[in-house]
Amino acid sequence: MDMLVVQGGRPLSGTVYVDGAKNAALPIMAACLAIEGSVSLGRVPDLVDVRTMTLLLSSLGVDVQASGENSVVIDASSAGSWVAEYDLVRRMRASICVLGPLLARFGKARVSLPGGCNIGHRPVDLHLKGLAALGADIQIVNGYIIAECNRLQGAELSLAGPFGSTVTGTCNVLMAACVAKGRTVIRSAAMEPEVVDLGQFLIAAGAEIRGLGTSVIEVDGVDGLHAAEYQIVPDRIEAATLAIAAAATRGSVLIPNAPVDDLHQVLEMLKAAGVDVDVSCAGLAIQTSKVLTSVDVVAQPYPGIPTDCQAQFMALLTTVKGRSSVRDTVFPDRFMHASELLRMGATIQRHSDMAEIEGGTKLTGANVMASDLRASAALVIAALAADGISCVRRIYHLDRGYAKLERKLSTLGAIIDRVSDNEPGRPHYLQHINQQNEMPTGRASPPRSDGSSSANDHR
Ligand code: UD1
Repeated sequence: MDMLVVQGGRPLSGTVYVDGAKNAALPIMAACLAIEGSVSLGRVPDLVDVRTMTLLLSSLGVDVQASGENSVVIDASSAGSWVAEYDLVRRMRASICVLGPLLARFGKARVSLPGGCNIGHRPVDLHLKGLAALGADIQIVNGYIIAECNRLQGAELSLAGPFGSTVTGTCNVLMAACVAKGRTVIRSAAMEPEVVDLGQFLIAAGAEIRGLGTSVIEVDGVDGLHAAEYQIVPDRIEAATLAIAAAATRGSVLIPNAPVDDLHQVLEMLKAAGVDVDVSCAGLAIQTSKVLTSVDVVAQPYPGIPTDCQAQFMALLTTVKGRSSVRDTVFPDRFMHASELLRMGATIQRHSDMAEIEGGTKLTGANVMASDLRASAALVIAALAADGISCVRRIYHLDRGYAKLERKLSTLGAIIDRVSDNEPGRPHYLQHINQQNEMPTGRASPPRSDGSSSANDHR
């Protein structure tokens, strides 16, 4: 298993580009199931979750071929199975995105229930309610969703849930509605940019959709979707993560292709904390020339601050003097990262759906364990800001949603290496980490996986 070893305390500096959005790429790939023709997708991020979706589509008989860097061609003409097995679905919740397209294509689907995960209870009742409103007969048997319909029928439905709308639920219903007979009106639809991107892709494939990006989406069903070419939107969560990392290290970073319109609230919050945020035709520029101030962050459905940025904000706020808070209204239990941040010397108190952070005491490097995708990013940010060496373990979570993050951070001047937990150099390495308290701060340097030192290396 790989881990990231980070020597903190260096401001990030330079220019970095983000990849395509994971949360747009996954439903768009799934939507190809409903298209009998060849789809060419660009800016597909090289992520473990994308590879899992590729495996899942292949298991259904879809042809998925890489065609150059970050491009794939997907042809579902020969798809023949409507069964998404537990073994693949359990690896990634977004596998549920095949449910709507399978129903649209075959009039039946058997998809394993994805189950819970480390960020809290994650039911799919709203997905099922929406698809049932379109005429699907749905049962849960032996851990599988079994759905059947003759032809899907357009309907008026609402996807409002106790924590807002549902992003992948809106995607599922949207994909099914495109080929349903007649008009569908989805109320309380998710407004996230990734849903908009899926909708734009479906329009490129012949769908008739209005109201994307609002809470009411109208779809006039068509008889079939056709071949298309599409570029996935750049990843707003990756851009936010890099911007927050720049602020946490008091650095200065330019992200030329950041989707700034989708980051409005994130950027406003960074500004409120005293970060210099400049949006121009050159892209998103983050600078931290002033002393930062404490802020209260509330994660909400779009256009609010995304729950997927909550952990990264928490890491930043541990570095800011004074009392800040982070509240998550979407996943109220998503605070596993807080206890790992404590290991680095942070002061955080959890109260229900909120955490209070008493920031400003310098974090110190430590061994920490990632619990989920965005928690991993938060721990890397904290490690970059901390004094000394940190070792972030279980980074397979990170690889699900960030393509080669350590390489991007290295180009910004971070000292960060990916090493295998099992490789022969490990004992020497751990000794190095364990001894760091005896070493003068800021002078220790992690050995690389090839055994060489990366001290004073400005990669
Ligand atoms: C998507 C994103 C994830 C992000 C989340 C919230 C993908 C692949 N993943 O996940 O990164 O953190 O949106 O922005 O796009 N809920 C119900 N019933 C349902 C569905 C959801 O009660 O049927 C609840 C959830 O428990 C949660 C809230 O609604 O509290 C939002 O969940 P949802 O938007 O569905 O998250 P995902 O689509 O799974």
